Amino acid sequence: MDQTLGAQGTAALKDIDAVKQLLAQTGYVCGRDLATVVFLSLRLGRPLFLEGEAGVGKTEIAKALATALDRPLIRLQCYEGLDTASAVYDWNFAAQMVAIRTAEAAGQTDRSALQAELFSEDYLIERPLLQAMRGEAGRAPVLLIDEIDRTDAPFEAFLLEALSDFQVTIPELGPIRAVEPPIVVLTSNRTREVHDALKRRCLYHWVGYPSFDRELEILAARVPEAGAQLSREVVSFVQRLRGEDLFKKPGMAEALDWARCLLALDVMALSPEVVSDTLGAVLKYQDDIAKIQGSEAARLLAEAQSALDG
Ligand SMILES: Nc1ncnc2c1ncn2[C@@H]1O[C@H](COP(=O)(O)OP(=O)(O)OP(=O)(O)O)[C@@H](O)[C@H]1O
Ligand SMILES: [Mg+2]
Repeated sequence: MDQTLGAQGTAALKDIDAVKQLLAQTGYVCGRDLATVVFLSLRLGRPLFLEGEAGVGKTEIAKALATALDRPLIRLQCYEGLDTASAVYDWNFAAQMVAIRTAEAAGQTDRSALQAELFSEDYLIERPLLQAMRGEAGRAPVLLIDEIDRTDAPFEAFLLEALSDFQVTIPELGPIRAVEPPIVVLTSNRTREVHDALKRRCLYHWVGYPSFDRELEILAARVPEAGAQLSREVVSFVQRLRGEDLFKKPGMAEALDWARCLLALDVMALSPEVVSDTLGAVLKYQDDIAKIQGSEAARLLAEAQSALDG
């Protein structure tokens, strides 16, 4: 199959800047590195594999792409034990039972006709992967395979095949192949390494914590109500927190949450007390909070504020 078919509807995206702009319209701020890999993924019709820290905008990129390109978003949330019945398709057993009873009551004796009917489209339940293979031409969906590191090796091997030919096979119905391959985004938090063979099919990008300027831009896009001073202080403090030895460093999600909390408290500028009182929006482990609360928070804040003044 022509792997570039998926790019047909995205042909308007003529270069990397166009991708950046399109994503910016949805409030997603991305640097040139991420925009480049997104552009290539769309152009070459290759799945995009995003690995990175928690809360840095991996999942959001798939949502932003779907919105920006006006495509349906189909999400496959991965977890341990995920199987094809939850990921690809299932049969509607309850409806099949009713059909069998009805056929029995009506005295229908043709077993093969009944069998054919029971395993037809009418009784098929489409799960995310199958849905993604059945998009309309020109409007192929964005398929988000979220947190792939949570599945196990057999499912990963299955995915590898599905993503190679953009096809899934249902024994009773035969192979179902995508008219146009979906735009695939895979994310991983790297709780384990994903197999090389799967990665090889994809374009890879590591999403790290944003720089100060980028984070400020994201904050302005997502929480524009936060004033310039508060935003700068929040970002400066969060950036410093990430330099500390913490069990779980705050991601972008936490920085945004914190700004929203401070707004709700009518805080215009950070003070050591406010920081200590609201740390739970940024740090989610008691050990981390205990470590930072009090004098450490005051020290980080002083550093953050003097860096801004300087
Ligand atoms: N570059 C960005 N531009 C705009 N918003 C962003 C950006 N990065 C992160 N965000 C915001 O941060 C939040 C967290 O993003 P997201 O859920 O995509 O993170 P994630 O990397 O998938 O995290 P996790 O690993 O915990 O699933 C979202 O609300 C998203 O809007
Ligand atoms: Mg996510």
